[in-house]
Amino acid sequence: MTNPRILLIIGGGIAAYKSIELVRLLRKAGYVVRCVITRAGEQFVTPLTLAALSENKVYTNLFDLKDEVEMGHIQLSREADLVVVAPATADLLAKMAAGIADDLATTLLLATDKPVLTAPAMNVRMWLHPATQRNIATLRGDGVTVMAPDEGEMACGEFGPGRLPEPAAIKNAIDAALAAAPAVTAMVGQPDFAPANHRPLYGRRILITAGPTHEPIDPVRYIANRSSGKQGFAIAEAAAAAGAEVLLIAGPVPLPTPPGVIRVDVETAVEMADEVRQGLPVDAAIMVAAVADWRAADPAGQKIKKDGSGAVPPLALAENPDILAGVAKSAERPTLLIGFAAETNDVIAHAEAKLARKGCDWIVANDVAADPMGGESNRVHIVSKTGIDSWDRLPKAAVARKLMEKIADELDARSPCQSD
Ligand code: C5P
Repeated sequence: MTNPRILLIIGGGIAAYKSIELVRLLRKAGYVVRCVITRAGEQFVTPLTLAALSENKVYTNLFDLKDEVEMGHIQLSREADLVVVAPATADLLAKMAAGIADDLATTLLLATDKPVLTAPAMNVRMWLHPATQRNIATLRGDGVTVMAPDEGEMACGEFGPGRLPEPAAIKNAIDAALAAAPAVTAMVGQPDFAPANHRPLYGRRILITAGPTHEPIDPVRYIANRSSGKQGFAIAEAAAAAGAEVLLIAGPVPLPTPPGVIRVDVETAVEMADEVRQGLPVDAAIMVAAVADWRAADPAGQKIKKDGSGAVPPLALAENPDILAGVAKSAERPTLLIGFAAETNDVIAHAEAKLARKGCDWIVANDVAADPMGGESNRVHIVSKTGIDSWDRLPKAAVARKLMEKIADELDARSPCQSD
């Protein structure tokens, strides 16, 4: 599974502002990020900023965990796949080395059973001090990864090692630490923002594909379908709001991740197929993505140049895997498998044919003749073996909500939820 969970502990110091960029990069890459900020860290970044960017609750002190039923400190320290301390101050590193637990951050660091990666940031003299170097040796001996700080001019005017590594470098170190760690599971826990009084998908796992795929021809050109991703993202948002654990596998679209959704970004159909395979099993899969049917058989490693002669380069195509049909045939076929179909004519007839060909349970047929892809509304017909349910034209968010009600009913009929 490729949506690891990061517990990010933000220490004090001027470099704490870089944690904002780090959270952004991690979220962009599909990581689930939960932030803990120390009292000193709060002087430099606000919990509000971190909450908005991480789309998760931010913890600042042990008393945040007074509601132990929701999330105790042991659970908080262990539900992550990797604990990251950035910036790691001299003080935090010293406490970690000594096993001191006198606030939330240090308590979590002592209680965790997960790998820990630290990105130090401090004044050059503090970094070079034998006490700090001793602490670092102790931590490395304990199995903690301590990144080397960057060298350069410091906020205090001195020059030397001690600067926080750039967020991109920290993210690379996180990728590497996770690649070395044992496989992890995603989609743990329910989004806590879902309205408690109406969560018809509580306890359900739902996988959604959305957006186009980009199939490279060379490093600057690609084959793609016209897809904004808006309907798929609206469905992911509605599914999470209905209480489901949602894994959204998104092609390249510039849309924000809906709250409570675990997102994995992909470029190509082959990558999407791979992520979908890894995402199973789920209760329902909704394949909204406009997957390119073909890819370049042999993408060029360098930009194909026009030589001025008017000669057109050959472009051999290879067929992409049909992800929906593949899931339908797989041993882990979801209880409810839903495909989409954008049609300009004979909408129902084409949808019925597609239902049979793909082996799914429903086809959401989408009439794109009047309002081409990328618009804000949709007129859909839900085509199944038992009949056709035609809805009026609705905003995409309303289509998504209505679809969630229908899916919840169908899942309840097919397999009553144990955890409800
Ligand atoms: O064959 P067509 O592209 O019209 O089928 C549309 C449905 O099949 C959508 O649900 C789409 O996400 C899915 N599909 C897929 N993999 C493909 C092509 C389409 O999952 N390679």
